[in-house]
Amino acid sequence: MRVFTMKTRILIALSLLSLCSRLQAQQARPDEPRYTSDGQFMRPDNYREWIYLSSGLGMTYAGAGTAVNALNERFDNVFVTPQAYKTFLETGTWPDKTVFVLELRSSASKGSINKGGHYQEEVVGMEVHLKDVSRFPETKWAFFEFGTSARTAQPLPPNSRCQTCHSMNGAVDQTFVQFYPTLIPVAKAKGTFKPESEK
Ligand code: HEC
Repeated sequence: MRVFTMKTRILIALSLLSLCSRLQAQQARPDEPRYTSDGQFMRPDNYREWIYLSSGLGMTYAGAGTAVNALNERFDNVFVTPQAYKTFLETGTWPDKTVFVLELRSSASKGSINKGGHYQEEVVGMEVHLKDVSRFPETKWAFFEFGTSARTAQPLPPNSRCQTCHSMNGAVDQTFVQFYPTLIPVAKAKGTFKPESEK
C-alpha cells in the first residue's frame, strides 16, 4: 500500500537531512554560551575539558594592609573554550562567544607527604566572563558569579566592579592576558597587548 507519494517521500528525506545538518552545526560549537529563557547563563559543567591557561595563588587587587592570611590563600584556575583559544592563537584576540571560567579552590599545606608549599583542595567558588556581542551590546562581555552549586546565574550589571577593573586593567580585550604566560607572546606578536597593563 502506498502511504506516501514519491513527492512526499522526497520532502520528508530532505527535511530529515536539513535537521541532521542543523544538529551537526550545533554539535560543532558545543561550548557556546547557553541561556535560560529569562536570560540566565547556564553553568558549563564540562569546563575542565577546556583549555587551561594558568593559576593564581592568593592574588589580591586591593591596596596594602588587606592581604589575606597566607594560610587561607586561594588558588584560581583559569579555563577558556577551545574554539576561542584556537582563534586567539591566530589573531591575538577573543572571538564572539568566548567563555572563561575562573575556578576558585582553597589551598592546603599540611597533608600526606607534603612538607612545604601549597596544593589545591575543594572548589570554593566559580566565576564566568564571556563575550556575547548581540546580547550585551554595551560592554560586549558579561560577568557571572556561580558560587559552588548554582546551576544558572544572572549577568552582573554593566557598571559592576568586575567590569570596571577588567576593562581598565586587562591586557587584551578586557581579559587578564598579562597573567596567562603562554598567551603573552602571542598577543605581543599580533600587536593586541596593551603595554601599560604590565606596570
Ligand atoms: C580589581 C580587579 C578585578 C576585579 C574587581 C575583578 N577581577 Fe576578575 N580578574 C582579575 C585578575 C587580575 C584576573 C587574572 C587572574 C589570574 O591570573 O589567575 C582576573 C580573571 C578573571 C577571569 C578569567 C578570565 C579573564 O577575564 O581574564 C574571570 C572569569 C573573572 N576574573 C571574573 C570576575 C568576576 C565575575 C568579577 C566580579 C564579581 C571579577 N572578575 C572582578 C581582576 C579583577
